Amino acid sequence: MTATADPRVLSPGLEGVLAGETSIALVDGANGRLLYRGYPIGQLVRHGSYAMVAELLWTGEWLPDAHLGTTALPQAVVDVLRALPPTANAMDALRTGVSVWGASQSLGWPPTVEQARTMTTAAPSALAAFARLRDGKEPIDPDPELGVPEGFLYQLTGERPSAAAARAMDAYFIVAAEHSFNASTFTARVITSTQSDMASAVGGAIGALKGPLHGGAPSEVVSQLHEIGSVDRAEQWIDETLDRGDRLMGFGHRVYRAYDPRAAALREVAEGMAGSADWLKLAVAVEDVALRKLKERHPDRPLFTNVEFYTAAVMQGIGLPPNLYPAIFALARHAGWTAHVLEQAAGNRLIRPDVRYIGPAERSLPGVAAGG
Ligand code: ACO
Repeated sequence: MTATADPRVLSPGLEGVLAGETSIALVDGANGRLLYRGYPIGQLVRHGSYAMVAELLWTGEWLPDAHLGTTALPQAVVDVLRALPPTANAMDALRTGVSVWGASQSLGWPPTVEQARTMTTAAPSALAAFARLRDGKEPIDPDPELGVPEGFLYQLTGERPSAAAARAMDAYFIVAAEHSFNASTFTARVITSTQSDMASAVGGAIGALKGPLHGGAPSEVVSQLHEIGSVDRAEQWIDETLDRGDRLMGFGHRVYRAYDPRAAALREVAEGMAGSADWLKLAVAVEDVALRKLKERHPDRPLFTNVEFYTAAVMQGIGLPPNLYPAIFALARHAGWTAHVLEQAAGNRLIRPDVRYIGPAERSLPGVAAGG
């Protein structure tokens, strides 16, 4: 069939294509809403924990007593992480850790909630172990009493984080846990649709998230705040940046035409920490100036803060190195990825789109007659 006679709709990037149905999350860009199983993200951050949210995503149940602590790694995972060069990208290390973990588990089909729990609680141990090993330090055993975000910080630093840092990290994990049919989640669902195992699906998802078009670090926001340096310099710095035609990092969004609800939820957390961290105070003040200036310059274009801005503020406020930001995002997203793996498996249909062929028409090899 020639391209012009082909009645099928071509949608590069699958834009506008409904590729499935989900009851896990709703991303409502026009109204700035993000709902996990119907519950608004702001409520979940204010009243929930990452464990409650993960259980909600997996099972649909709201369990106020939910607890998930980080779990110990099989020795094979630690051995392989130890063998990686200290310069390895943290996303590569995490993907490798997940892969070795999967190889040591013999996960079967269909995937289960218990597998989702174990993967989501083992991955933070793997990233923390790699981050320590690359600094010449030994990995730290999990403290099962601590929730996953707090336990990750403990295994990373060897110290129990302050209550404010633990709370901020928990809030970040909640807002980053799920965002519907994005590229990495779709990757996980494609892999699951072949009846492959959950570790393979999550390993593939980490690979997709690593690309700068998807999980690019909010480290540019950090550089921006470093350049601004102090609240009194914000106005001039922002004017100069916009006069040059440059963009303010952490503002604007392709889908949200309102304040990114994840940024709103993290801002509340950041403001709660502002008294103890000058960095967060600077971020809150810079945001106010930036929003005012963007409104002045683009009165007809809604430009608001996006999630990257307060992710950077919270991570920096906690004191985490920017080269870990994308991998920490991946840890939080384990809950969403594995929830989608379960949903895909429950109503599985092999994902296999069509493609329009635009190569040469049938022809013979050089020197060979047609049909020869
Ligand atoms: N700073 C200054 N001006 C901006 C910004 C910004 N951050 N974002 C958009 N604008 C302006 C553009 O200059 C443009 O103005 P013009 O019409 O006068 O030319 C207008 O707003 C529309 O811009 P588009 O590029 O069409 O907006 P789009 O929705 O396609 O872009 C994007 C979204 C890429 C996120 C953009 O807002 C941007 O570059 N932001 C800065 C980078 C950033 O924070 N990225 C993280 C996004 S969050 C996430 O991915 C998880």
